[in-house]
Amino acid sequence: KKKMLSAITSSGAMTLGNYLGAVKRMVNFQEQYEMHVFIANLHAITVPQDKEVLRKNIKEIAALYFACGMDPNKSVIFLQSDVLEHAQLGWILNTQSTIGELSRMTQYKDKSQKAEESGKGYIPAGLFTYPTLMAADILLYDAEFVPVGVDQKQHVELTRDLAMRMNNRYGEMFVVPECLVTENKLKIMDLQDPTKKMSKSSDNPKAIIKMLDSPADIRSKIKAAVTDSENLIKHDPINKPGVTNLIEIYTTLKNVSLQEAMVRWKGKNYKDLKDDVIEVLLEVIEPIQTRYKELYNSLEVEQWLEQGAAKARMIANKKINKVQNLMGLNYKR
Ligand code: TYM
Repeated sequence: KKKMLSAITSSGAMTLGNYLGAVKRMVNFQEQYEMHVFIANLHAITVPQDKEVLRKNIKEIAALYFACGMDPNKSVIFLQSDVLEHAQLGWILNTQSTIGELSRMTQYKDKSQKAEESGKGYIPAGLFTYPTLMAADILLYDAEFVPVGVDQKQHVELTRDLAMRMNNRYGEMFVVPECLVTENKLKIMDLQDPTKKMSKSSDNPKAIIKMLDSPADIRSKIKAAVTDSENLIKHDPINKPGVTNLIEIYTTLKNVSLQEAMVRWKGKNYKDLKDDVIEVLLEVIEPIQTRYKELYNSLEVEQWLEQGAAKARMIANKKINKVQNLMGLNYKR
């Protein structure tokens, strides 16, 4: 089986964007691939975190992974900081990447600008070196494929560059991973400003659907989602971003093609579209929430994460030894 790896940062609650851009795909891929999935808590602290909120987010994402269908017997599922090698390889890769290439990362540019504007007045160094830790995450497990949303593509490309650089400098040590974005480059947009992506760190709760939102909240958020005044259901990302976003949420959740959906909506209006989106959202989210409630705070989740970390450590430890040996970091051969 080919190896695959992906993760979610625990800097907020899991959103519909995370589910459709990543988790739903991971769940399907675990049949065909040797899957490694983790909660990126070390990435989360690259922006300020309240410790109780952070702990809650970690536990929620863990239980949600399993509630969404990640299977601890098929995949390696763990918490990033439980495997020390991530931080260790992250450090090594910091010494092998350049300030120039890290400065070109658009996520860094956006987030550092936000950090500055927020008035807190500082940019954590970890925000800058975030991509080298992400590269470490991927390279430790020989992942051939990394299924992520388009927003993470640049980081995976940097990972490829670093892997090739290390292999050239020190000898073959890393598999060069391939980024696997969704076919149509699906990006779920903010419900209130559909020109930007739906982000778990958004400060407008109406703008994002969280996987743990109540049915009433889901209904009211979709009803309040920004559209336009034309009342014509049409897929047009440039001129009708709000409507297009609703269409994409529907087709992806329902697993139908755009053509099929458009036939259904012939002669219909935005109210019909929104009703359809609400219906399919509840259809998908309610069973996940039911399973989530059984799992949250359970001993099972803790045991699965421990079991996952134990497997991950074995893989990661082998890799870090190889890297350190090839780089001359040890005194024994
Ligand atoms: P994160 O936590 O921001 O997002 C998790 C996954 O969800 C995708 N995603 C979206 N897809 C479509 N529409 C959206 N609005 C949307 N928002 C988020 C992301 O692309 C991602 O796939 N740096 C990563 C976590 C990470 C990682 C890794 C991923 C750390 N190490 C190694 C892969 C491999 C992140 O912050 O994702």
